[in-house]
Amino acid sequence: MYQADNKRYGQMKYRRCGRSGLLFPVISLGFWQNFGGINEFETCRETVTKAFDNGITHFDLANNYGPPYGSGEETFGRIMEKDLKPYRDEMLISTKAGYDMWEGPYGNWGSKKYLTASLDQSLKRMKLDYVDIFYHHRPDPETPLEETMDALACAVRRGKALYVGVSNYSAEETKKACDILKGMGIHLLVHQPSYSMFDRWVEDGLYDVLGAEGIGAVCFSPLAQGLLTKKYFNGITAGSRAARGTFHKQDSLITEENIEKAKKLHELAQERGQALPQMALSWILSRKESVSVISGARNWEQLKENIGFIEKMEFTEDELRRIDEILK
Ligand SMILES: NC(=O)c1ccc[n+]([C@@H]2O[C@H](COP(=O)([O-])OP(=O)(O)OC[C@H]3O[C@@H](n4cnc5c(N)ncnc54)[C@H](OP(=O)(O)O)[C@@H]3O)[C@@H](O)[C@H]2O)c1
Repeated sequence: MYQADNKRYGQMKYRRCGRSGLLFPVISLGFWQNFGGINEFETCRETVTKAFDNGITHFDLANNYGPPYGSGEETFGRIMEKDLKPYRDEMLISTKAGYDMWEGPYGNWGSKKYLTASLDQSLKRMKLDYVDIFYHHRPDPETPLEETMDALACAVRRGKALYVGVSNYSAEETKKACDILKGMGIHLLVHQPSYSMFDRWVEDGLYDVLGAEGIGAVCFSPLAQGLLTKKYFNGITAGSRAARGTFHKQDSLITEENIEKAKKLHELAQERGQALPQMALSWILSRKESVSVISGARNWEQLKENIGFIEKMEFTEDELRRIDEILK
């Protein structure tokens, strides 16, 4: 039987999420890829339990993670049942709805009908009574924002979610969502944006809104899906996300120019005594609005290396300037 390491809170660092009582580990584990029905269960189980043994208390899911859709949550549910059930109160578990999930008019976007049914399904798959955070996964241009926010507020009132968040919302949409929720007596706890050295859109207005409104940022694809590691330095490595054909927007990201930049960043990381992915994760957290990076590690070996970033999270002004120079 799994017994969590009793030194699990010894090394990890935790950050407060905006204006709230909630602390996140600076690194979280995400289930988008690598934890689906097509993946080896024991590898998933090892990654999750060792993550928990090392102080990672936050696990990020969504209804359609897999493949197939739903199977990321099912894998998580199996691990919950087998291993982590006694530790539920020590864990932050999030899920989302907003992308295509099932056929017909009620399985996509942002209606209250979809979000409410989807959360109930997610809880069944994950074998949970409630999630800690329920997110709307992406803005819906057709549904009134009031309805989508009402669906999030209802999840809280029904006792199915403790906190709510949005993902992929622009600065303007986030401010509107926050104001609507405020009117319902609910604080928008968290925004989940993409953020990495190769994807800096949050710096252009979103982080100002988050700072002003006391909303935390939990950042996804912090290694630009693996581009901020050495694996693409000499072409597409066998077995990698790009080789598997699941690298999102591969053509615009895995370019010669970006590989050259990654090589220069790697040299700077070496000077700092860190691996490239470790420096890339530390860099995201050099912004105070960033609360946690969601690692999409494929196995424990990768996650273990990534966790090592907490040993050196500080940057000198000169290092930050050199990084900006490389990324220009
Ligand atoms: N809200 C949203 O719309 C949204 C969208 C995307 C993701 N997310 C969340 O964010 C999480 C992370 O996203 P992501 O998977 O794109 O993040 P990521 O950490 O940028 O990329 C993960 C990939 O990087 C590679 N990797 C990670 N650590 C490595 C290491 N130490 N050495 C070598 N390679 C390493 C692996 O690639 P290989 O498989 O090639 O080895 C892994 O599959 C997701 O699981 C999900 O929870 C949310």
